[in-house]
Amino acid sequence: MRLTIEQLRLTEELDQLGSISEAPPPVVTRVVFTDADVRGREFVKSLCRETGLAIRDDPAGNTFARWEGSDPALAPVGTGSHIDAIPNAGRFDGTVGVLGGLEAIRALERAGFRPKRSIELVVFTSEEPTRFGIGCLGSRLLSGLLDPSAGESLTDRDGITLNEARVSAGFAGSLATVALPRGYYSAFAELHIEQGPLLEQRQVPLGVVTAIAAPASLKIQIEGEGGHAGAVLMPGRRDAFLAAAEIALAVESAALSTGSIDTVGTVGVCDVFPGAVNSIPSRVRVEVDVRDIDQTRRDHVLNQIAEACDKAAAKRHVKVHSEMVNADPPAQCAPMVVDALVQACETHKIRFERMISRAYHDSLFMSRISPTAMLFVPSRGGVSHRPDEYSSPDAIAQGVLVLAEALARLSS
Ligand code: GLV
Ligand code: MN
Ligand code: MN
Repeated sequence: MRLTIEQLRLTEELDQLGSISEAPPPVVTRVVFTDADVRGREFVKSLCRETGLAIRDDPAGNTFARWEGSDPALAPVGTGSHIDAIPNAGRFDGTVGVLGGLEAIRALERAGFRPKRSIELVVFTSEEPTRFGIGCLGSRLLSGLLDPSAGESLTDRDGITLNEARVSAGFAGSLATVALPRGYYSAFAELHIEQGPLLEQRQVPLGVVTAIAAPASLKIQIEGEGGHAGAVLMPGRRDAFLAAAEIALAVESAALSTGSIDTVGTVGVCDVFPGAVNSIPSRVRVEVDVRDIDQTRRDHVLNQIAEACDKAAAKRHVKVHSEMVNADPPAQCAPMVVDALVQACETHKIRFERMISRAYHDSLFMSRISPTAMLFVPSRGGVSHRPDEYSSPDAIAQGVLVLAEALARLSS
């Protein structure tokens, strides 16, 4: 089989998808079920139709584009990723696994390969937590790890429910029908950009992921007392933002206190009400992200943050309400899929390194129902979740080539 990757076409498709954004280029903002997300989905589906794939959407908005195998009774092989993008993002996060996955299928077709097992390209809904506060929404529901009724009750900051948003984007039906049975895929392989600096620093073209770090996130509401910034004297103030600031610094020190480079803690959201320079903040909402490859250590950090919330409440005389949005275990990748990726690298004489994913991915959840692994391509400067995120066409093409080879092995 002679596999060729149409690098130019894939680069153009990544550019075209990147231009479908709520913000002017090079910024990509494509939040789930917004107009840009819907247009992005249509673009990807039109390419899948051109390739002759059979398309199915589920009520959560996950899309499955299927290349039927010669034995449809066998469990299919899955690949894919997401196309939603956080505010002020770049062009490659997720999209490389979707459009690259499609190009891998086209490359296999061009090479005359015919799969025995069907190959399904999956476009997962809302890998990013931006709108509904929880990441990997689509794959969580597919894996059965998010209770459909908990999913139904999610709302965004404007009070729009997940149900309203998905129906207006064209995805009706009950979320209870979304979960896939265990073993639905015989194997799942996700291509993604590394989003960190290691492959570039070590000049290694590909990373084969053996484990995915454990993510957790918290929503913390702080209620103090507002008032006039000039007239209310400093003693006796109950400033909600100052309590938030103490909690934010505690997140940093809790993450640092483990002494491990693998523990990270971030406060990425801080909404201050009423948000006027001459008004004491009366209400603040912060969102905290904590991760580690070691779940026990990550949970210890979460406990320290909970203690810091109690302390800040007592010291600042404010009410602090903290809600754990998710605290997921890490995932071990399946040796069978890791081996297929490793053998594919070796077949094409492409150097690789085994590595851990510090970012989370839909594969974290697919691994709960099917043997799963991931393939990383280098990110320039380790930059991601920024408009200057970049992976070269050559690097991406190598990833797609190895993915195609691995899909061939897994579907034969
Ligand atoms: C995914 O986008 C993550 O935050 O790891
Ligand atoms: Mn991301
Ligand atoms: Mn991603």
